[in-house]
Order: sequence, then structure tokens, then C-alpha cells
Amino acid sequence: MDSSINATACSHKKCCPISKTPCLGECIYANILDDISMGLVGLDIKERKVFFQNKQAVEIFKGTVQSKDYDAVSSVLNIEDCITANRFNLRQTLPFGNRFLGCTVYRIAESYLWIYVTDITEKMRLDSIAEAVNTMNNLGYIFSGIRHELGNPINSIKTTMTVCRNNIQAYSKDTILEYINRAMTDITRVEDLLKDLKNFSMYENPDRRNVLIPPYLENLLSMVAPDFGSSNIKIKTALRPEAELGYFDPRALQHVILNILTNASDALQGRENPEIAISTYRIGDRIIIKVRDNGCGIPDEQKKHLFKPFTTTKTQGTGLGLVIVKKMLSKMDGTITIVSTQNVETIVTINIPAGSQLV
Ligand SMILES: Nc1ncnc2c1ncn2[C@@H]1O[C@H](COP(=O)(O)OP(=O)(O)OP(=O)(O)O)[C@@H](O)[C@H]1O
Ligand SMILES: [Mg+2]
Repeated sequence: MDSSINATACSHKKCCPISKTPCLGECIYANILDDISMGLVGLDIKERKVFFQNKQAVEIFKGTVQSKDYDAVSSVLNIEDCITANRFNLRQTLPFGNRFLGCTVYRIAESYLWIYVTDITEKMRLDSIAEAVNTMNNLGYIFSGIRHELGNPINSIKTTMTVCRNNIQAYSKDTILEYINRAMTDITRVEDLLKDLKNFSMYENPDRRNVLIPPYLENLLSMVAPDFGSSNIKIKTALRPEAELGYFDPRALQHVILNILTNASDALQGRENPEIAISTYRIGDRIIIKVRDNGCGIPDEQKKHLFKPFTTTKTQGTGLGLVIVKKMLSKMDGTITIVSTQNVETIVTINIPAGSQLV
């Protein structure tokens, strides 16, 4: 990347905007890079030089950062952090004055970085408006769900206690104990709901990092193994070596996977040869974790409501499990999909960012 060669040395009076060496012919690649609507920046981290910026990048930095000022560009794009944490190929959102930049840093050689940068201020504004509208639409639905979920056990406790009080003289100790136990079961339901509501707002700002997936999953599975063993559920794993490193908050993903495993275990109650198979693999810069059970499956009409709050088929369920799972994953740039065939199987697929090599 020798930038010292003079443009006039080139027979076409034109130099490559990247290497600055004379072009041997029409350099359509350089022209394309210069003209695309996304900002592109090339940094030489050894020489501490900005060796390339296309028009769009110059436009993004205009009036704020000198486009050839390595230190300024590197500070805006958070380059030192990426190098220290070896965090490449991951999209990050960066504040830039009163604007926001979407930025992905690629390491193209030992000392060269290639950075895609876009001004996402307008997109974020529209997203937050859409989210606010969505929240308002969902709020009424959620309030009525909570009222219903709390109202049922509270009414039931009230009825139980009233009957007990009106008959306190006539009832034996055993009968009174039975009424108290009934009320305690309802109180547990209320407690479960409150616990789930607390989980809903946990991991709002996940602490994402590079995590080695095989030991992480093995440790997690050893926690549930005793419970699954007592229900005769067989656990199988197939963890592919290329899916070794993920980028996520280990505590939040533990919550996600335990929720999915609990659902699988519930679906396996009373089934023949109950089995849960967990597999991992990698597609590009994403890690896929699949959890398959051969349980009761999900009826078609229920499928479209799976991620709606309070959708449950269980007497003890709150129907918030998958809602919380989806929210936690989205906070970690992850997704979840569920495919199910009734009375055959359910496959839950989690898709999360792959990590960068640990140093
Ligand atoms: N692996 C599965 N197999 C069959 N049905 C499933 C599976 N996973 C989820 N479901 C269905 O989706 C519903 C919603 O699941 P979700 O985890 O959100 O709530 P829940 O398990 O009912 O209650 P909780 O809030 O305690 O998790 C379940 O009640 C169940 O009917
Ligand atoms: Mg659940």
C-alpha cells in the first residue's frame, strides 16, 4: 500500500484510490467502492494511516472529523477497543455527536482494517417510533393479561378463605389444612408470575463477550441432567467444532436455554423414549443452536400465538417463557424460530452472533 507514487506517473493520469499505485486500466472496483452508498474506510494500523475513504465516508465525517486524521477516525469508530478485544466482523452501533453510526470492522491483513460505516440516525429514530407505537398497542393487551393472571388466583384465594372462615367452627383441623394448602398453591402461582415479570426486565443491557460454546453447554446440561434423568429423558449432543465460539451474555443465554429445555421436558411427559437432542453449527458469522424434542408437538392453531404473552397450555405455566426468551435473544442480536409437528417433534432454533478468535 504505497501511497507515495504520484498520480502523474500513471499513463491514464489516474491512480487506484486504495493503493495509490497507477491504474493499469479502468479500475471499476475502485470506482464502485468509491460510489456505493455505504461508507468505506481503510486503515493501516501499523503506520497509523487512513489509506482509503470513499465519498460516502467523507460525507459522514464532514464537518466533524478530518477524513485523513487517523486518530480522530479511529476514535470515532472505536478501533482501539476492537483491536484490544479482538472484536471483528460484528456490527456495532456507535454514538457520533447527536447521531448514530452503524459500523463493522474487518481485519483484512495483519495491519489493515476495512470498515463499513453507515449513518443510522434516521433508521434508529424510525425504529424507536415504531417500537413506541408497538409498545402502546401491546400495553393494553399485557395489562389485561396480568389482571387476568393475578385476578384468578386472588379470587380463588378469597373464596377459599371465605369458605374456611364461615365454617371455622364446623371444619376439622384436616379440612382447614386442606383449604390452607389450596390457598398456598394459588399464592405460588402469583409468585411465579411476579418472578417471570422480574425476568422480563432482566438483561436489558446484556454483557456480551466471546464464550467457548462446548464447555458452556456441557456445564449447563450437567445442571439439568439429574432432573431429566429422573424423568428418563435422554439428552444427546452434537456440537460441531466450527461452532466453537459465540458472542453473547452467558447468564442471559443460560436463562434462554433453560427455558427451552424446560418446555421440551414438559412436552415429553408421558411420551415413549423421551429424548432431547442439542446440536450446534455455524453459518458464516452466525452460530446456530438447535434443541429438538420428540414430545407432544404444537398444534397448528397454537403456533401463531407462541410468542404472545400468557399463551400457555399448562396449569402451572404463566405463558411468559418464550416471550422473555425472544426478548433476551433480540437484545443479544439473536433470533429464535420454532418448527413443530404434532405428536412427532419440536425443533427450537437459536441464531446468535459468532465470536472472534480469543487471544
Ligand atoms: N417444545 C415444546 N413442545 C410442545 N409445546 C411447546 C414447546 N415449547 C413451547 N410449547 C408450547 O408453547 C406454550 C408457551 O410456552 P412458554 O414457555 O412461553 O410458556 P409456558 O411454558 O406455558 O409457561 P412458563 O411461563 O412457565 O414458561 C407452552 O404452554 C406450550 O404449549
Ligand atoms: Mg415455558
